[in-house]
Amino acid sequence: MVGFSTRIGFVLAAVGAAVGLGNLWRFPYATSQNGGAAFLIVYLALLAVVGIPALMAELSIGRAGQRNFVDALADDGRHPRWAGAGYFGMGGVFILLSYYSAITGWSLRYAIEAWRHVADGAAPSGFDHFVDVIQGPDAIMAHLGVMVLLVATMAGGAAKGIERLNLIAMPALFAAVVALAIYANTSDGSAAGRAFYLKPDLAAIDLGTISGAASQAFFTLSLGVGGMATYASYVGKDVDLQKAGTSIVAADTLVAVLAGLMVFPLMFAFGFGEAVLGVGSNPAAGMYVALPAAFGAMAGGGLVQAVFFTLLFLAAFSSGMSMIAVPSRWILDRWPGLGQLRALLLVALPAYILGIVSAISFSTFLIIDSIISRIVVLVGGLLLAVYAGWVRPELSDELRVASHWRMDRVLRPLWRWGLTPIMAILVVFGFLGFLTDIGAIDPAPGSLLARLT
Ligand code: PHE
Repeated sequence: MVGFSTRIGFVLAAVGAAVGLGNLWRFPYATSQNGGAAFLIVYLALLAVVGIPALMAELSIGRAGQRNFVDALADDGRHPRWAGAGYFGMGGVFILLSYYSAITGWSLRYAIEAWRHVADGAAPSGFDHFVDVIQGPDAIMAHLGVMVLLVATMAGGAAKGIERLNLIAMPALFAAVVALAIYANTSDGSAAGRAFYLKPDLAAIDLGTISGAASQAFFTLSLGVGGMATYASYVGKDVDLQKAGTSIVAADTLVAVLAGLMVFPLMFAFGFGEAVLGVGSNPAAGMYVALPAAFGAMAGGGLVQAVFFTLLFLAAFSSGMSMIAVPSRWILDRWPGLGQLRALLLVALPAYILGIVSAISFSTFLIIDSIISRIVVLVGGLLLAVYAGWVRPELSDELRVASHWRMDRVLRPLWRWGLTPIMAILVVFGFLGFLTDIGAIDPAPGSLLARLT
C-alpha cells in the first residue's frame, strides 16, 4: 500500500471502510432493539456531537504521523506512553477482524447461493437457513474464503485495489439501497415499519438508548481502533481532512438511514414485524430473512437478490480491508524486510483461527462483538479525546492544512471540554450495556440498569 493516488480515492476508501455490515445489518438491528425512531434521533445527535470530533481527531493523528497507529500516537518519542493506546486499538481491531471476517462470510455465502439460483430465484432462504449459515463448518469455510480474499487483494498493491473496488461498489450499493427502499415503502403493509422507524416516542429515550447509540456511532464510523488513522496515514498534505471527514460521515449516515428505510418497511410488509419488535425470532435475522422474502415476491427477484448480496459482501469486505490494514501496517513499519504478503499473513492467520470460535457459535460471536462495540471502541474514543484535547492540542493544526474551513477553532476546545467528559460518561454506559448484554447482571425492575437494557 503506497498511498492513495487521488483525494477522491482516499474519500472512497474511507467511506468503504466506514460503510459495512455496521450500516446495513447492525444499524437496523440496534435500532429495533432500542426502540426505533427514538434511537435514530439519539444516534444522529451523537454522530454530530461526538462522532465528527472524534473522526477529525483520528484523521489528524493519522495524517500527521504518516505511519502506523501505534507510532503515530507516540509521535517520534514525544508521547512514548501513548503507544499503549495504539496497542489497545490495534488489539481491538485484530479481534474485530477475526469475527467480522466470519460474518462477512455470511454475506459471501448468500451472494454465492443467490448467483447459483439467479435464473429460478429459488436460493435457500428463511430463518432456519439463516441459522445454518451463521454457525458450523460452512461458516468456518466462508470465513476462510473471506480471509484469503482479503490477503490476496491487499497484497497486490492495496491502495489501488481499494480505490477501484470502492469506486464501483459504493455508488452501486447506494443506488441499490435507494431502489429497494422505494420498493419497500410502496409495498402493502409497510406503513407500520415506517412508523416504527420514523415516529419517535421521545419518552422512550433512556440510558439504554444512549448507550446503544454511542456504540453504534463509533462502530459505524470505524473509530477508536485506528482504522481511520491508518488510512489517513497514506494521505498527502494536499487533502482537506475537514471536507474528507465530513463526506465520510455524510455518506456513512445516509447509507445507514436508508438501510433502515429499506429493512423496516420490508419486514412489516413481509410478515416479520414481530421480529423487529423483539418478539419471536431474533431481530439479527432481519436483513437475511426479510430481504430474501421480498426478493422472492419480485419479478426478476433472483437477479436483484444476487446483486444485493454481492454489494453487501463488497461493503463488508472493504471494511475488513481497513481492519487488516492497521496491524499489518504496524508490522511493515517495524520490519520492512518482511514484505507486504508476510505482514498480512501474520495478521490473517491468527485472526482466522480466533474467528473460528465466532463461526462455530453465534452466542460467542455476540459476546465478543459486545466487548468490541460496547467497550473497546468507546474506550478507544475516550483515549483519542484525551490525546487530542489534553496531550497534543496542536493536532488541530493538521486540520487547517489545505482547508479554508476553520473547524479547528471549535474542535480544539471541544476535544478538551466537550468530547473528553462526554466520552468518559459514554464509556460507563457502554460498560453497563456490556454487563447486561452478557446477562451478568439481572437488573431489578425500575433500576438504572433496567433502563439500560
Ligand atoms: N465501520 C465498519 C462497519 O460499519 C466497521 C469497522 C469498525 C471497520 C472499526 C473498521 C474499524 O461495518
